[in-house]
Amino acid sequence: MPLRNDFDQLVDVKGGFISREIFVDADIYRQELDKVFTRAWLLVGHESLVPNPGDFYTSRMGEESVILCRDKKGDIHVFLNSCRHRGMKVCRYEQGNTSLFTCPYHSWTYTTDGKLQGVPLHRTLYDGVLDREANSLVSVAKLCNYKGSIWATWDKDAPDFITYLGDAKIHLDQALDCRDGREGGSEVIGVHKWVFPANWKFAAENFLGDTYHNPSHRSVDLIGIGPSAAAGKKGRRDDELEKAQHVWISFPEGHGVHSAIQPEANEYIESFLDNPILEKYFRHCFEERKRRLGEGARLLPFVGTIFPNTSYHGRQPRGLCAWHPHSPTSTEGWRFFLVDKDAPNEAKEYLRRYYMRYSGPAGMTEQDDMENWLYATAASTGTVARRYPFNYQQSMGAYVTDHPLGGDVSTQVTEQIARGFYRRWTTYMQGGDWHELLGSPAGNRQAAE
Ligand code: FES
Ligand code: FE
Repeated sequence: MPLRNDFDQLVDVKGGFISREIFVDADIYRQELDKVFTRAWLLVGHESLVPNPGDFYTSRMGEESVILCRDKKGDIHVFLNSCRHRGMKVCRYEQGNTSLFTCPYHSWTYTTDGKLQGVPLHRTLYDGVLDREANSLVSVAKLCNYKGSIWATWDKDAPDFITYLGDAKIHLDQALDCRDGREGGSEVIGVHKWVFPANWKFAAENFLGDTYHNPSHRSVDLIGIGPSAAAGKKGRRDDELEKAQHVWISFPEGHGVHSAIQPEANEYIESFLDNPILEKYFRHCFEERKRRLGEGARLLPFVGTIFPNTSYHGRQPRGLCAWHPHSPTSTEGWRFFLVDKDAPNEAKEYLRRYYMRYSGPAGMTEQDDMENWLYATAASTGTVARRYPFNYQQSMGAYVTDHPLGGDVSTQVTEQIARGFYRRWTTYMQGGDWHELLGSPAGNRQAAE
């Protein structure tokens, strides 16, 4: 595959124009899998999906199937789901428990820590030749269990995950660490998986903090079943938005978030919970979050994206989304919904119903978003359409750079975060080293201005 090197023309961050080619072109997509998805830290899953020794959960990194597995000793691993003999998928199930992975093709077996164990007719056919250690399942280069969420990278030179997060950490913390932060404090209450015909970057960009698209959700807000309103309480969300001070932050690593600095009391909770058990529970969550995170707890993220393809919600629905690429114009969305393990059953049930109503393929707002992404993708594949770039000129230069929150901080709706994301995407596509990929705030700003 010839490598493209015209990204400086395709991604014009200074001018605020980005070519549609990067959302539809097959060569760019192949290069993206190689240059972005084999290097960046990617979300694989959550430890609560594999609570016991021998538990496994098949996940994805880029287009590739991987196995998230807890071995006999209780350690977590992530392996490429492909046999070292002829490449057969060694695990064809979504999740389960096993003592060995047995390849269906010729029956090589692998232990739960990835070691090649059984080879049929080994003495006769392979004696003295086959190095079992060298033919173990391919493991990721680095793995991190961060507050229960499991992340991995194929790049042995990648920085540790906390360095990779940079100043975006405190925002992600709120999605992961809602309450008391005990080991395994949260659990995944459900996973939605679905495929939609759009480029993965539409979804990642949407969650970077594209608050400008809120009119898309006008219908759910009008009838009072939007993100912050119970039935019959229309208008509450707007009231709450008024009270909070909003910030949109572009981080030099390519991450982004739309957060709100809340008033002292958590009026968001009070505004829509009529049930004393739920109100008590959510108030407790807020107080615990404040105790653990200090002032940072007042910054509650609506949405955020960790570069490249992991998004999150810090308020309800609290959880993580992975946007797995399938092709330039096809993406598999996974939503992991999180809840505190020891939350009252009533709270879990309330959240379960809330998540299903609000998010996922049948959720009210997710459908709105997907319509935008898939129609925009389809309308950008044509020969004529591809000649005209997308406009990213919103709120050019409208941010501060010396804010204690780090990154470029805007107090108005902005595409600065998207510009920062695509600038960092360009660095990956050009094969930048990790110093460049992590960026510096100054470097990020210079490019944007
Ligand atoms: Fe797995 Fe042959 S492909 S044993
Ligand atoms: Fe939306």
